[in-house]
Amino acid sequence: MQCINKILNLREQLNRWRLAGDVIAFVPTMGNLHEGHMQLVSQAKKQADRVVVSLFVNPTQFGEGEDFSTYPRTEAQDKQKLESLKVDLLFMPEVTEIYPKKSLTTVSVTGVSEGYCGAKRVGHFDGVATVVSKLFNIVQPNKAFFGEKDFQQLAVIRAMVLDLNLPIEIIPVPIVRESNGLAMSSRNGYLTAEQKNLAAQLYASLIIAKEELVLGQAEYLDIEKEARDKLTQLGFEPEYFTICRQEDLKPAAKTDKQLVILLAAKLGQVRLIDNLQINL
Ligand code: PAF
Repeated sequence: MQCINKILNLREQLNRWRLAGDVIAFVPTMGNLHEGHMQLVSQAKKQADRVVVSLFVNPTQFGEGEDFSTYPRTEAQDKQKLESLKVDLLFMPEVTEIYPKKSLTTVSVTGVSEGYCGAKRVGHFDGVATVVSKLFNIVQPNKAFFGEKDFQQLAVIRAMVLDLNLPIEIIPVPIVRESNGLAMSSRNGYLTAEQKNLAAQLYASLIIAKEELVLGQAEYLDIEKEARDKLTQLGFEPEYFTICRQEDLKPAAKTDKQLVILLAAKLGQVRLIDNLQINL
């Protein structure tokens, strides 16, 4: 696996592959890789000739008081994991390589980025859309792989690619869960063993809501309130638990069939998100 820090060197290598006719897959990450990232890479390996992974903890998507400086950085272990999956190229730029000076341009996606995590983490999705569009311009992949765990992020990226006519196929990869149902996340590392057990209740609350939706009896607002109340009783601080439409993340009506329940809750100091897609 080649490790490259500079955009110029990355472009030289990618040009060689492109000239040889290789299909290039891209997996952007912030490192601290877990089984969810490994799934993204495995899917990318299956669907392309060359796999490029980026490891860049992007400062512009962290708000004030968020965990940018303490975000887990585990480069040595990450490299080993990517080597074992036979990734072709790891791009690990310094912050100054991606942001050499104060940017005058921000990519901002309206609609799907508003509400939910966008409301709580103001500016977060601008940071994500901007860095992902920069990385897309640097790598110019044929396909890019994103986890469904960050469902709102995936919607933002899809909208950006569509609106800006980027010739990149966005491939969603299903959530990978611990055996107790907890969605894998780099931030799970902040949880104690006890909190990890309790955090499995997030997925359990999604399953209960799904069952009620499938039965079709309860009002959506009641299902949401019941879930939030239950999570509060269990010791979570729920931020949102909303039954939405998959296509635009607007709150769902009874006539909608392609649904996703979006959920965020704090457990102690740790903010966790999860979701469940339901096709009625
Ligand atoms: O999902 C992430 O890890 C990040 O938001 C991403 C897409 C790598 C952009 O920094």
